[in-house]
Amino acid sequence: MNTNLSSSAPSQLETDCLVVVVLDRNKNDRNKNDRSENDRAENGRNEKDKPAPSVESTDAAVREAAKDVMASGEVTAKTFETTLLHRPSGLKAKRLLLLGGGKTKTFSTAELRQLAGAAVRTLKSKSIRSFAFVLPENGIAAPEGVRAIVEGAFVGNFDPGYYKSDRNDNDQKIDAITILTKGDQKSSELEAALQYARIVAESQNFTRDLTNEPSNRMTPTILAERAKTMAAEVGLKCEVHDGDKIRQLKMGAFWGVAQGSDEPPALIVLRYDPEDAVKDVHLGLVGKGVTFDTGGISIKPADGMEKMKYDMAGAATMIGVMRAIALLKPKVKVTAIVCATENMPSGKAQKPGDVQIAMSGKSIEIINTDAEGRLILADGLCYARQLGCTHLVDAATLTGAVVVALGYVNAGIFASDDQLYERFANATQQAGEKMWRLPLDDEYKEIIKSNIADMVNSGGRWGGAISAAMFLKEFAEDTPWIHLDIAGTAWMEENKPWIAKGPSGVALRSLVEFVGGFR
Ligand code: BES
Ligand code: MN
Ligand code: ZN
Repeated sequence: MNTNLSSSAPSQLETDCLVVVVLDRNKNDRNKNDRSENDRAENGRNEKDKPAPSVESTDAAVREAAKDVMASGEVTAKTFETTLLHRPSGLKAKRLLLLGGGKTKTFSTAELRQLAGAAVRTLKSKSIRSFAFVLPENGIAAPEGVRAIVEGAFVGNFDPGYYKSDRNDNDQKIDAITILTKGDQKSSELEAALQYARIVAESQNFTRDLTNEPSNRMTPTILAERAKTMAAEVGLKCEVHDGDKIRQLKMGAFWGVAQGSDEPPALIVLRYDPEDAVKDVHLGLVGKGVTFDTGGISIKPADGMEKMKYDMAGAATMIGVMRAIALLKPKVKVTAIVCATENMPSGKAQKPGDVQIAMSGKSIEIINTDAEGRLILADGLCYARQLGCTHLVDAATLTGAVVVALGYVNAGIFASDDQLYERFANATQQAGEKMWRLPLDDEYKEIIKSNIADMVNSGGRWGGAISAAMFLKEFAEDTPWIHLDIAGTAWMEENKPWIAKGPSGVALRSLVEFVGGFR
């Protein structure tokens, strides 16, 4: 998709469609008890609760073109409401799309990002190929606004229907988007924001590409190949280690999972080491790359098992983050470690009751072979520490329990270090991604006690996302560490106005923002 900036007056721009946000400027937010009788309308409804939709453009001709439909009361500014006018009078645009953005009070870059995605998804379904988006000025700084629009537009343009034989990439995609900003805004800053957003969003879609592939087309070997190809394109170092090396490194927990599969595992290491890096920081990004999770001998029910092709979303996220980093060149040393394997039942598979010795030397009693993610991450985290990482972040579709706790809206975030958490939480806000912190109190350690070994790999149902995180903490040890459980958020269960059903690429934008914060 082509992305352009223009400071032309919206009414003067020739485009297939001019997109303008409509916001509800009703400012009434007083408590119900505060209201005087006079405020009440005849029908008992408070007049001041009525929406006061306003077209967010300073171009009088644009507001004039929308005047009749606005006066009709059809436009309420409800979020994602679309009103499409053809041949709007006084405008050079062929169409005018009024896009509801909700209340001014709650409108922020997060909403704007989704609106841009919604504009793309609405217009591409009508076979429109290009459009212009008027940057709303509602308290959003222009560079942040440009960034949100570009990111949202790329996210909205992604289509997961890869293997549909009638798929024609061209007629269901937007080719070009122009963002209209005011002439007095510094163009170099806006251009930089646009380029940043393009890189991040294309990396997010790269992650979604990897996640979308079914397991017969995304084996550990293929994932490693994709990482290598990407690394060569953007100038990263990439090493791929095989099963022999995994055993040589004494990664008993990782190997315990990998041993049951005919598909060979891969330990993928991507390195970014800039000359001007800040001293004493080496960030390690560890990704869960289970290309298919059957559960192993503790096999999963058939119903819904097909979804376990996305059990490598954490790995795909970290590979995508490394792509973005290689292009954006932040001043920090970063190493990504991806543990890729299938989790299969077979005559060679590990069994409940087995004891595995992890790379760190700690022993693990396998209670449930379906709790495989924490096993491979245990050795991934240990390896990252051995490589000298001073800070760790892992991303994993780790537990069904996090979906029980937080549903499909928030990813679970765990942190062993409050300062690091604050910084990460800031980054999620900037990136417009929702994550909710869950606890790591020492009391929870009880759940993973074993009779025979240092710990069990499954603490049962209650607090399942937490016991999984407590398990990982044993391997992050004293290194400041963040764990992202993206089981409920890495896959969109439904189509949304701004994003298609399928892989979401969640956490990538937050991670890129977070890495950029090391200065
Ligand atoms: N890959 C699953 C977790 C998962 C669930 C991802 C739903 C995406 C959507 C993980 O390996 C798993 O099977 N976890 C078990 C752990 C249990 C056996 C302790 C779970 O959550 O049921
Ligand atoms: Mn599992
Ligand atoms: Zn899994």
